[in-house]
Amino acid sequence: MLTTGAVAAARAAQNAAPKNIVISSANGLIACARAMQMLNAGHDTLDAVVAGVNMVEEDPNDTSVGYGGLPNEEGVVELDASVMHGPTRRAGSVASIRNIKTPSKVAKLVMEQTDHIMLVGDGALRFARACGFKEEDLLTVKSRLAWLVWKRSLRDASGNNNWTDGLDAPVPKKTSGLRRLFPDADDETLAWAWQMAVRPPTGTINCLALNPKGEMSGVTTTSGLAWKIPGRVGDSPIIGAGLYVDQDVGAAGSTGRGEENIRVAGAHSIVENMRHGMSPTDAGLDVLKRIARNFDNDRERLRKFDIKFYALRKDGAYAGVSLWKGRFCVNDGGAQSRLEDCVTLLT
Ligand code: GLY
Repeated sequence: MLTTGAVAAARAAQNAAPKNIVISSANGLIACARAMQMLNAGHDTLDAVVAGVNMVEEDPNDTSVGYGGLPNEEGVVELDASVMHGPTRRAGSVASIRNIKTPSKVAKLVMEQTDHIMLVGDGALRFARACGFKEEDLLTVKSRLAWLVWKRSLRDASGNNNWTDGLDAPVPKKTSGLRRLFPDADDETLAWAWQMAVRPPTGTINCLALNPKGEMSGVTTTSGLAWKIPGRVGDSPIIGAGLYVDQDVGAAGSTGRGEENIRVAGAHSIVENMRHGMSPTDAGLDVLKRIARNFDNDRERLRKFDIKFYALRKDGAYAGVSLWKGRFCVNDGGAQSRLEDCVTLLT
C-alpha cells in the first residue's frame, strides 16, 4: 500500500520537465550515442533508438544480437525484436526471424504498416522480404566456430560425441583438443567459445529514450539464448516482458534469461510499479524479488543465470537493476555514453 506522499511524489515526477536521455544495456555505448545524436537533431524517439540498436545488430562482434549472433542448436541464427512508440501507444514485434540483420526495423514496420503486432518465423521473414529486406547468412566465422565447439562439448551417457575424432583416427599429437580442431583460431577466441559452450549466454540489447517533449520509446533486439531449440522465443519480442512503454509513466526493458522475465511480465510490472509511485530502482528491484521468489530464493539455483532490467521514468529518472552484479549504459546529452553500475539484488 503506497502512502499519499509517495503517490503525490509520483504525480509530481510525471509532470516534471523532461530532457533528452537514452539508457541501454551495457553493450549499447555506441547505440546510446547514435540515439542521442538523433534526439539532439530533433528526430522521433523511436527512430532514434532503432537507429542506435541497428549499429549493434549489424556489428559481427556482438554475438548476442543480429548479424554474428550465436545460433540455435542447428547452427541457424534466429532473431527476436520488439519496439514500442510512446506518443502513438503502438507496438510491433518479430520472433524467430531468420536471415535478416536488423529485426528491430522489421518490428517497426509491423507496427507501422500492418494491423498486427507480432509476426513469427517464416511469416516474419516473408513480411520482411515483401518490405524489401535483403536475406543474408547471419552466421560469421566466429559464431560458427562457437557453435561447433558447443557441439563438440556435448556427450552421451558413455562420454561419446559424434563430432569428435572417430575411433579409427590416428592417435592425436599432444596439443589441446580445440587447438587441434581449429588451428586457425587464436587462443582468446577458443577460450571465449568454450565459455559460450559451457554457459550459453542470453545477451541482448534494450534501449529506451526520452525527449524534452516527454515523448518516450523503446526497442529490444536479440539473437536469444545460444544453442536454443529452433523456434524458442525469449522475452525480447514479448510486449510487457522484454519491453514496455507507457507514455503517461515511463519505459522498461530487459536483458538476460528471458524465461524468467516472461514468468513475471517484467517490463510491464516495472512500469506499473512506477505508475504507483515507486522509483525506477525500487520498481526494478521489486520485479527481481519476484523472480527470486519463483526459485524460493535459492541462491544456488539463482546463481545459474542473470537478468537485468532498465527503467526510465517520464521525468528522466532512470535505473539499471540486476540479479547479480552488472552495468548499464547512459547518455544524457553528450557525444559519449557512459557505463553505470546496476543496483543488484544479490551479491
Ligand atoms: N533476453 C533474451 C532472451 O532470453 O532471449
